[in-house]
Amino acid sequence: MCGIIGYTGKKSVKDVLLNGLELLEYRGYDSAGIALSDPDGTKTEIYKCAGRVADLRKLCEGRKLTQTCGIGHTRWATHGGVCDANAHPHRVGKVTLVHNGIIENYEELAAEYGLLGKLRSQTDSEIAAGVFDHFYAGDPYDCIKKAVGKLKGTFAFVLMFADFPERIYSIRNVSPIVAAKTEDGAILASDVTAIGKYTGQYFVVPEYHVLTMTKDGITLTDLDGNKKEPEYLEIDFELNMSEKDGFPFYMEKEMAEQPRVIARMLEEKTTEDLPDFSGEQVPDSLLTSCESVCIIACGSAMHAGLAGQFLMKKFLHIPVSVEMASEYMYTDPVVDEKTLVIAVSQSGETIDTLEALKYAKQKGAGSLAVINVKGSSIARESDAVLYTNAGPEIAVASTKAYTSQLALFALLVARMAYVRGDFTETETRDFVRELKRVPDAMEKVLAGKEKIHHIAGRIISAKDIFMIGRGLDYFIAMEGSLKLKEVSYIHSEAYASGELKHGPLALITEHTPVVAVATQKQLLSKEVSNIREVRSRGADVVLFAKEQLMPEEEEGYLTFELPDVRDEFMCLPAAAALQLLAYYVSSDKGYDVDKPRNLAKVVTVE
Ligand code: F6R
Repeated sequence: MCGIIGYTGKKSVKDVLLNGLELLEYRGYDSAGIALSDPDGTKTEIYKCAGRVADLRKLCEGRKLTQTCGIGHTRWATHGGVCDANAHPHRVGKVTLVHNGIIENYEELAAEYGLLGKLRSQTDSEIAAGVFDHFYAGDPYDCIKKAVGKLKGTFAFVLMFADFPERIYSIRNVSPIVAAKTEDGAILASDVTAIGKYTGQYFVVPEYHVLTMTKDGITLTDLDGNKKEPEYLEIDFELNMSEKDGFPFYMEKEMAEQPRVIARMLEEKTTEDLPDFSGEQVPDSLLTSCESVCIIACGSAMHAGLAGQFLMKKFLHIPVSVEMASEYMYTDPVVDEKTLVIAVSQSGETIDTLEALKYAKQKGAGSLAVINVKGSSIARESDAVLYTNAGPEIAVASTKAYTSQLALFALLVARMAYVRGDFTETETRDFVRELKRVPDAMEKVLAGKEKIHHIAGRIISAKDIFMIGRGLDYFIAMEGSLKLKEVSYIHSEAYASGELKHGPLALITEHTPVVAVATQKQLLSKEVSNIREVRSRGADVVLFAKEQLMPEEEEGYLTFELPDVRDEFMCLPAAAALQLLAYYVSSDKGYDVDKPRNLAKVVTVE
């Protein structure tokens, strides 16, 4: 949460910061700010305001800002409300900083360092600036080392010291910072999307290492004073993947990318139609030695895990559980060295997932991460990583990252079934060949978007809706329901169709919209009965069904036919259809689809 950027070089830093903040805005959009340092050290100018980066741009308009060193921040509020004063950067004495994370002992620090009554904001970040200033006696490295020893919590700090006008310093614990040397200086940011324009390579700043950026380059020093060589990674997404490319919203663009992203991932991770993870060094022993699997994740990633669990149980015949990462540690989980823990995360930074993973590892579990963002914390914490390689996902509501997780789970199950002896080679190849038909099926769904747009008109004015399904379709309804809630603000509940009559059926009245998903042949007759039950109570039913399984159209239904692929893979075209539904409801309501209220893309607070 919160986006950070810093640059020192030859370019106008105002432009680098504002453009970068626009790309990072999905990490938080409550307020934005920049600090620009004059080359002679005479002053550091701060511009900040509650609102979006566009508001900050207006604030800077018409001012002659020619500086070439500065830092910027876009905020997701934690401590302190949304107002100009709480926007970053914060300056105390000779220290100006931006912060991502939470300082847990901020009250004690404020008292210990005499900051009470002197602060301009209600943020823990300004208190941290006061602590840095307290320890500053002319040597930034020494100050940082001493100050971080006093801080409890998670943080990524980027600092400027008035005595060193062309330099930027950074230190982090858990919250991410990536950095790179560029042609004319150095740049850092919370994630790689903001720096891809300036470099083809980057490195993840290791925790508790002091990063120093000057116009001549970068140095990295641990807290014992030892210089460290950065471990560079390649930026392997196309640059336009972090731009809108003519689409009105990133969400629409990212939905449209799904067939290509999934097709590429399936090609990259197979050899002659056999799943092949040797490129990512996932040892088969990790997949064969486990006696049970536990999938940990949050939100959409957890929904992908539920679909993964369904396939694993069906084909591997071993116990598989899916755990909400935020609850995992408080439920006394049964986990040991015979458990394979699979942590699923787009960002690779979700703190709940990271903490749950660490807990499971302490108990001896083997670990595999399914991640989109390279080099992220969860990826580094795991024994092995499978990257979904979906490219940057900027819209807060996950689309391509989620469906690429679904596809990757299918491939993982195929590999596990193959190496564990559940599938023959021929069965594995058939499974993978069928999986490779999925991108075309998703393309067909996307081509039918105007029909889904029409269906969206049917639910746009609803206050509450239900999404129902059985088996895999229930998990897809859960994700469809989350998507609708977060971007359209319509209250939507996903229910396993068979559960309706155990309570929630009481809420179905004349014209309650019910979105039903029916893609599983063996469950069809039961699903149709459940749909009739809600219809007979007056519900307004919209049915998304597999083409082959679409029942004779009944009066009053709106239907959408999903292209046929193997039942186990129908979750992918179905997911794309429900994403489009949520998208059109939101955009037709005139909402900012990419930035739903109160949310942020990367959730680094518990
Ligand atoms: C919903 C959504 C969230 C994330 C969740 C986990 O559209 O995107 O529910 O799936 O916050 O995030 P990651 O995958 O980054 O761990």
